[in-house]
Amino acid sequence: MVDVCFTPDEVVANELQGRIAVVVDVLRATSTIVEALANGAKSVFPVPSIEAAVRLAQNMGRDQVLLCGERRGLPIDGFDLGNSPREYTPERVAGRSLIMTTTNGTPALLSTTNARETLVASFLNLSAVVARAAESGLPVTVVGAGKERRFSLDDAVCAGAIVRGLCGERHAAGEGLPDTAHAAMLLAEARSGDLKSLFEGTAAGRQLIDAGLGEDLEFCAQVDRHDVVPRFHNGQITL
Ligand code: MLT
Repeated sequence: MVDVCFTPDEVVANELQGRIAVVVDVLRATSTIVEALANGAKSVFPVPSIEAAVRLAQNMGRDQVLLCGERRGLPIDGFDLGNSPREYTPERVAGRSLIMTTTNGTPALLSTTNARETLVASFLNLSAVVARAAESGLPVTVVGAGKERRFSLDDAVCAGAIVRGLCGERHAAGEGLPDTAHAAMLLAEARSGDLKSLFEGTAAGRQLIDAGLGEDLEFCAQVDRHDVVPRFHNGQITL
C-alpha cells in the first residue's frame, strides 16, 4: 500500500519501519542530488545545518569534499556549489563526495531514517524510482519536502505521479488509497501536463524566478532524464 506525507512534519517516524520511503523535493534538492549522482558524484551527505556541514568537511578533509547547498535559494557563503542542478556537471562533481544542506530537502531526507530504505526521487528519475519501489514488494511512503514546513504543489504532483505509477489500474479511482495518496494522484492527473508552467505558479518556483534562477524550473521539469535511483543509507546517498 502506498501513502503520502506532504511535509516531513506529517511523518510519524515509527510508522516508516518496514516501509520504503521515497523523498521528493522537486525544486530543487532531490533533482540536484539525482543530477549529481548521475554525473558521477561518489556520494552525497545530507546534513541539518551549515555548521554541521563545515564540521563534517573538516572531519573528512576539506579538500576531499565539496560543500553544497542553499539558503533562501541562494548559494551559501564559503560553499563550493549552490543548489542548482545545472551546476552539478560531470566536470565539477565526478568522483567527488558532496556535503549538502538545504532548507527543505535535507530535513526531509533526515526525517526518514526509520524507514527500511530511503529512495531519492524527482521528475528527473521518476520511472526508475517507481520501478525500484514496485519491485521491492514493500509498502511505500512518499515524503514531500514541502516549503518551510508547508504543503508544496510541485512535490505533491510528483508524489501523485509516483502513486499513479505504483498503483497503475489498481486503485485508478483512488478507492482503497489513503486520502493523502488519493489527493496527490488527483493533482498529478490534473497538472502533470505542463510541469514548467505548473512550477511557475508555485511558491518555490516564484522564489527561484525572483532569485534569477528561473532556468532551474525547466531543468527540473524534465521527466526521466536519468535512469538512476539514489539510495540514502547510513548517513550518505549513493547509487
Ligand atoms: C530546499 O531543499 O529547500 C530546496 O531545494 C530549496 C532550493 O533549492 O531552493
